[in-house]
Amino acid sequence: MIKHTDFLVIGSGIAGLSFALKVANYGKVCILTKAKVEENTTNHAQGGIAAVMVASDSYEKHIRDTIIAGDGCCNENIVRLTVSESTKRIEELIAWGTRFDKTHAGNFDLAREGGHSEHRILHYKDQTGSEIERALIANVKNHPNIEILENQFAIDIITQHHLGENVTRRRPDICCYGAYVLNSETQEIDTYLAKITILATGGAGHVYNTTTNPMVSTGDGVAMVFRAKGKVNNMEFFQFHPTSLYNPGEKPSFLVSEAVRGFGGILKNLKGEEFMYKYDARKELAPRDIVARAIDNEMKHSGDDHVFLDCRHLNKNALISHFPNIYAKCLSIGIDMHKDLIPVVPAAHYSCGGITVNEYGQSSIQNLYASGECACTGLHGANRLASNSLLEAAVFSHRSAIHAIQQIETISLNKNIPEWNADGMVLNEEMILITQSLKEVQALMSNYVGIVRSNLRLQRALDRLGLIHKETEELYDKSVLSVPICELRNIIEVSYVIIKSAQERRQNCGLHYSIDLCKH
Ligand code: FAD
Ligand code: SIN
Repeated sequence: MIKHTDFLVIGSGIAGLSFALKVANYGKVCILTKAKVEENTTNHAQGGIAAVMVASDSYEKHIRDTIIAGDGCCNENIVRLTVSESTKRIEELIAWGTRFDKTHAGNFDLAREGGHSEHRILHYKDQTGSEIERALIANVKNHPNIEILENQFAIDIITQHHLGENVTRRRPDICCYGAYVLNSETQEIDTYLAKITILATGGAGHVYNTTTNPMVSTGDGVAMVFRAKGKVNNMEFFQFHPTSLYNPGEKPSFLVSEAVRGFGGILKNLKGEEFMYKYDARKELAPRDIVARAIDNEMKHSGDDHVFLDCRHLNKNALISHFPNIYAKCLSIGIDMHKDLIPVVPAAHYSCGGITVNEYGQSSIQNLYASGECACTGLHGANRLASNSLLEAAVFSHRSAIHAIQQIETISLNKNIPEWNADGMVLNEEMILITQSLKEVQALMSNYVGIVRSNLRLQRALDRLGLIHKETEELYDKSVLSVPICELRNIIEVSYVIIKSAQERRQNCGLHYSIDLCKH
C-alpha cells in the first residue's frame, strides 16, 4: 500500500503528539506508532516537568542549573531559548487540559530534584507523564485532520538511496520522502510518502539489560538516521537513573522518582550508613551522573547488589499523597516505604545524545525533523538536568512545527518512490537467534559501556559487537521482516554509535567516565 500525507509523525509520546496538534490546521497529519498510542516513555514519566513559574525563581537560575548539570558541554544558546520558552509551553499544556498539582493556597506545588537550585518541577502526583499523555491524546483524537495508526513499525526513512542513488555521509542534500513501515496487523510493508517527516521515537534504554524505559525504547529513530547517513551526536552520554527499584527479574525496572530524594529520602548502604556526603556537598541532590557513580562505587566496594533509599523519617500521609504510585508499587512487593528501606539500584534511563538537530528541530536530512528523546538539541550537554526532557520535547516540537508550517507550501510529494523490495526474504527467523543476540548485546553494553568505562572494555565491546552485527545483517537480509529483528538491528547500530562516540571522547565529562581518562 502507498499512502500520502502532508506531515508524517513517527511516535506518539509528548514530542509526536504536541507536534501533530500544532501543524494539524495546515495539512493532513498521520501519526504512526509501533504499539498502542499510550505505550511510550512519556506515559511513565513520574517526577514532572521543569519550568520557571514563580517570581522567586528566574530563567537565569534554571539556565545556570542546566549548564552546571551538563558539565560544560551544553549549547548555551539552546539552553537559553529552551528555558525562556518554558513558561509558555506549560501554559499551553494546561490549555490542552493537563492538570498540575496545586497547594491549598492555589499555587503550583513545585517539587525539587537533583541539580535544581529551586523548587521548579510541576507535577501531577507521581504520574505527570500519564496526565500529559491523557490530555494530548484527547486533543489529537478530536482533531479532524489527524489520523493515528497503532502497531505500525517504521523500518527506515526513505531517501535518494531508495531511488538507486549513491548516498554517503558527505552528501549535503540527502532528502527524506517518508518512511517504509511494517504493519504488524497485516505483516505488509507499506510506503508512507510525506512532505515533512518528524521522528519522535523516544529513547534507547533497551541497549542495556537494566533500564527504566518501556519496551518500545529501542533507539529506532537514531538507527534510521544513522543508516540514512544523517548526523547523530553525543551518544556516549547515556544517563543512568540512580534509583530504580531493585526487584530482580522485573523488566523494565520500576523507577523510584528523584522527587523522593527531593522530598527528603536518604541513600544508605546495606550497613545502614549514609554515603553521599563523601562524594558531593549536594549529597542526595547532586546531579544524576554523580549520584549514580557514587552508588556504583559503593556497590563495587561492598559487593552488594543494591543500596537503600530511606524514607522512614518522612510523614506517611505526605508520602502517600505525593507518591501514590510508588507507594503502591513498593507495597505490592512487600515494602512499606514508611516502615521499610527501599532497595534501589541505578538503571539506564535517558539518552542525552541523538539525531543532531538545530534550533528549529531540523536534522541534517532535508524535510526531516526530530524532537524529544531521539533528538540531540544541545540542551543536556554531557548530563541531563532532571525533568528537563519533557520540557525539551514540548519546546522543540513547538519550534519544529512553526518551521515546518512555513516550509510545507514549498515542498511537493515525491511520488516516484519504489515500494519496499521484499524479494529474497524467505526465512522466518528462529526467535532464539534474535533473543540470544539481544541478550548478548545488552550484557556487553551493561558490563563494558555502562556507568564506568575503560579503553579495554570499550574495545572488547566493539569487537564482540562486530560479530553479532555480521550475524544479524545476514539474518536480516534473508528474513521475512518482523519487529523483533528490526529492533535488534537498531539496538546493535545504536550500541555501535555509543561505543564509537565513547572511544572518540578523550576526557571524562558528565556521563562519560573512563578509568583511563582525566577530567576535562
Ligand atoms: P516517547 O514518549 O518514548 O514516545 C516515543 C514513541 O515513538 C512511542 O510511541 C513509540 O511507540 C514510538 N516509536 C518508537 N520507535 C518507533 C518505530 N520504529 N515506529 C513507530 N513508532 C515508534 N522526563 C522528565 O522530564 N520528567 C520526568 O519526570 C521523567 N520521568 C521519567 C520516568 C521514567 C520511568 C522514564 C523512563 C523517563 C522519564 N523521563 C522524564 C524522560 C521522559 O519521560 C522522556 O524523555 C520523554 O517522555 C520522551 O518523550 P518522546 O515523545 O521523545 O518519546
Ligand atoms: C524522576 O522522576 O526521577 C525522573 C525525572 C527525569 O527523568 O527527568
